[in-house]
Amino acid sequence: MDVVHPPEVRSICCIGAGYVGGPTMAVIADRCPHLQVTLVDLNAARIAAWNDPDLANLPVYEPGLAEVVGRCRGRNLHFTTEVDDAIASADMVFLSVNTPTKTRGLGAGQASDLRWIEASARQVAAQATGHTIVVEKSTLPVRTAETIKQILMGSQSLAGGASPGGESGVEAKTFSVLSNPEFLAEGTAIRDLEHPDRVLIGGEDPAAIAALSAIYGHWVDPERILHTNLWSSELSKLTANAFLAQRISSINAVGALCEATGADITEVARAIGSDSRIGMKFLAAGPGFGGSCFQKDILNLVYLCRHYGLDDAASYWEQVVVFNSWQQQRIARLVVSRLFGTVSGKRLAVLGFAFKADTNDTRESPAIAICRGLLEEGAHLVIHDPKVATTQISADLGRPPDACERGFADDGKWQRAETPLEAVTGADAVIVLTEWGAYRTLDWPAIAAAMRRPAWLFDVRDITDTAAARQAGLQVWSVGKG
Ligand code: NAD
Ligand code: UGA
Repeated sequence: MDVVHPPEVRSICCIGAGYVGGPTMAVIADRCPHLQVTLVDLNAARIAAWNDPDLANLPVYEPGLAEVVGRCRGRNLHFTTEVDDAIASADMVFLSVNTPTKTRGLGAGQASDLRWIEASARQVAAQATGHTIVVEKSTLPVRTAETIKQILMGSQSLAGGASPGGESGVEAKTFSVLSNPEFLAEGTAIRDLEHPDRVLIGGEDPAAIAALSAIYGHWVDPERILHTNLWSSELSKLTANAFLAQRISSINAVGALCEATGADITEVARAIGSDSRIGMKFLAAGPGFGGSCFQKDILNLVYLCRHYGLDDAASYWEQVVVFNSWQQQRIARLVVSRLFGTVSGKRLAVLGFAFKADTNDTRESPAIAICRGLLEEGAHLVIHDPKVATTQISADLGRPPDACERGFADDGKWQRAETPLEAVTGADAVIVLTEWGAYRTLDWPAIAAAMRRPAWLFDVRDITDTAAARQAGLQVWSVGKG
């Protein structure tokens, strides 16, 4: 068998300094001090925040991230808006840009919007020098690497040939394209990156594959570094998210049935999760999945299935998303119905706005749909979240004009509270929407004393001490409990 000599990689550029690019590159820089790692982004405010001397102001909140950035920043980890320079001096360029669902045009509402991936590939094509390994880090529809290769190859011919030292006298540029999807989850990103279940590398060029594997090999057991062809790698990422999201819709469907029948979703989850073929993880019932990826990746899978004429496969996956929306609407409706059928003018404390604990991310957070549903019914929401900024809540909910301004006495409105106790003061109900650790140990006697009676607890994450809440005089509804 031929021995593969990977090209030496000394300098890495990552286009896109977001939730994935930032933590991923910080861990690579931390584990590979011999590499220079540069993160670039068009968003100057984001880059300024990554460079903020106060590590508490990094644009992404992730446990352990500030420590890693603190160790590497300025040493071998750099953040800049100088995209062209960083590409030109890189041996390897990661594309970690956003790939949201298209909002208009062909495939709107399902297909991924690839404009940022195409723009960054074109920028690499224009600015790269010598041989560059281009790594897809973004989550992409299967066969996107084909498009990226075509864009890059266009620049090869412009540069005078596909091999180094082409005859035109201009230094030729060459490229290898790899797929290396990211499986980190927000809130546990650093742990996931430092101890991944697997690293997936798809590609055709053995030398490029070896070069990327060598980087991960600095801290990941080689047995956990999986190699596949490009298309399997791209498709595996969409499939992994689809399977995970499907488990959540499945457990929430059973949770609704538990509520109707007297069964208990925690007991059912333990009973089925003890089967090693099913496993315990991802069986927590809740308000439905949120986050920037599950919905968009399933919808992308749906679009791809339809594109290839697989309509029944498309409908199968689509139902996971349809059901997820139903779960969120169900929660809002249920709160209204328990509060005597109306929440108009009632003060409701919402605990948690992030889509999950330990992140400041609210993208597709179930809290948005549930709060909107309650605002629509005229509720006065008082929202607490330990990490989500008020400006973000405003961006997600909008600030409804003053009731008098619009002339309707029953228009909903919301405000921010700095503590859970402030949120619940005078409230008719407390609704727990995110599983923040602090909400597990709330002081129920103090909360009950501050609320208006009859007072309700809606524990949509099943994390609170419901016995203590009941004892303090609250009426309790908990997800998946009959
Ligand atoms: P993000 O929006 O937080 O970050 C993307 C960044 O790319 C933005 O800051 C944007 O300004 C920048 N950008 C876009 N086009 C650019 C260009 N041409 N040049 C320079 N910068 C550019 O997105 P994210 O959450 O980091 O996700 C990135 C990709 O990773 C997506 O495909 C997503 O599906 C995937 N992913 C996300 C997660 C997650 O937990 N968020 C996990 C795994 C995979
Ligand atoms: C998810 C995947 O877990 C990652 O592997 C993947 O890399 C990432 O998407 C991505 O591609 O973006 P993330 O969305 O950050 O990560 O967070 P998860 O822990 O998966 O949670 C997603 C949603 O499901 C959250 O709203 C969470 O509250 C909910 N969830 C999760 C449940 O309701 N029940 C569970 O048992 C687990």
